[in-house]
Amino acid sequence: MSSNPINFNRRKTLKAFAASALYSIASPGLLSAKEQSSLANSINIPKDINPLDLAQNEDFWENIAHFYDKADGIVNLEHGFWGKMSRPVKDKYLEYTEKVNTELSYYARKNYAKDSQNSAHSVAAALGAKNTEVALTRNATEAVHNLLRQYNDFSKGQTVLYTDIDYPSFKDAMIWLAKSQNVEPVKVVLPPQANQTQILDLYIQAFDNNPNLKLMLLTHVSNQHGLLLPVAKISEEAKKRGIDVICDCAQSWGLVNFNIEELNVDWAAFNLHKWIGSPVGIGALYMKEGSLKKISPYPGELDPSDTDINKRLHTATVNFAAVLTVPTVMAFHQAIGPKNKAARLHYLHSLWAEEARKMRHIEVLGGSDPASCTGMGAFRLKGKTSLNEVSALQKHLETEFGVFTVIRKGLDSGYCIRVTPQVFISASEIAQLTHALKHTKIV
Ligand SMILES: Cc1ncc(COP(=O)(O)O)c(C=O)c1O
Repeated sequence: MSSNPINFNRRKTLKAFAASALYSIASPGLLSAKEQSSLANSINIPKDINPLDLAQNEDFWENIAHFYDKADGIVNLEHGFWGKMSRPVKDKYLEYTEKVNTELSYYARKNYAKDSQNSAHSVAAALGAKNTEVALTRNATEAVHNLLRQYNDFSKGQTVLYTDIDYPSFKDAMIWLAKSQNVEPVKVVLPPQANQTQILDLYIQAFDNNPNLKLMLLTHVSNQHGLLLPVAKISEEAKKRGIDVICDCAQSWGLVNFNIEELNVDWAAFNLHKWIGSPVGIGALYMKEGSLKKISPYPGELDPSDTDINKRLHTATVNFAAVLTVPTVMAFHQAIGPKNKAARLHYLHSLWAEEARKMRHIEVLGGSDPASCTGMGAFRLKGKTSLNEVSALQKHLETEFGVFTVIRKGLDSGYCIRVTPQVFISASEIAQLTHALKHTKIV
């Protein structure tokens, strides 16, 4: 036996996962109670500890990091692009890839429909939605684009709203939508730093200034700087005024903890390949029961009673193995605990952002109160907002300090550098960023 308790735990946990993988390879679909408890046991969360305390327990998170294959040589703080699969998820995905590649159409024709439905049900359960309210997509973009393109309730003189913090290609899609539907686009600019009250007030002001507003895009967590929007309150105000809301949850699910009912929206788009930890190529569309009428069926599909969410999509051939892996993905996510993950990522953000806020040469972007912050954040040198200036800073951090980040373009206030640690990033790796920021006065 190893004298290192972490190594010992690691071996034990991987063995437990291997056992559960073998158990379920024969029958993809929802995980059995035995598999679920095997996953939970292998993660081994200390009893009676709250997520905020667990967030600061480096030993626990070091153990979690052992579930992931780690690349050496760089502190990678750019995990907002897509997430890494944990090793148990990756192993399962490889097994399913082999299965699909071996059994081919014989499997797909006979059993895939049922198995993919099980995968969709595991997503619905994790979101707190009904099975009839969730359909799998390939990504969040597919879900948002279908909602926008198939929205059928415009009339002349109406407007659509988006903000500068929305996902850049969705802002373009809103402009396209306005043009193609002959309605007016309204863009709202949010300040580079904001708290929950300010954000809500700005949305209410925009609603009052635009009485013909009909449809809006609302981004739960901005891909620019991780700002968390008070979606439920904004949506409540929107509903009072008859404004329909499409909520982009591509960066929020898994980064923050929530149940779909809490968001108070009729339509939402998700992916699982960022913060939930699935193989690349899995997203989800949520449509609240009773909300299908204003979203026409996908071209060529029929749904006279407006009750079948699956008629709002036509995804055709997909990555079968990725879809089959979804129940394992959800089980691993649940085993760490959505609250624990969100608290850890929020804590990692606070470690660098609180220090950076004290540095006179750094501007921290996004939430200005803890309730508006997430694990994702952004910064730049004060007054240096151009592409050239921000590119030079990103390069400097990478080459001089070994810290990898990414430039974000899209805010009206200018370019910035985004920081997105994952659950396998340690506090000492975050300290490398803080050290770099401290010593980066001029680039
Ligand atoms: C806020 C936001 N919305 C939507 C997307 C698109 O997600 P997907 O690649 O799953 O379509 C992204 C991707 O980075 C994003 O950050």
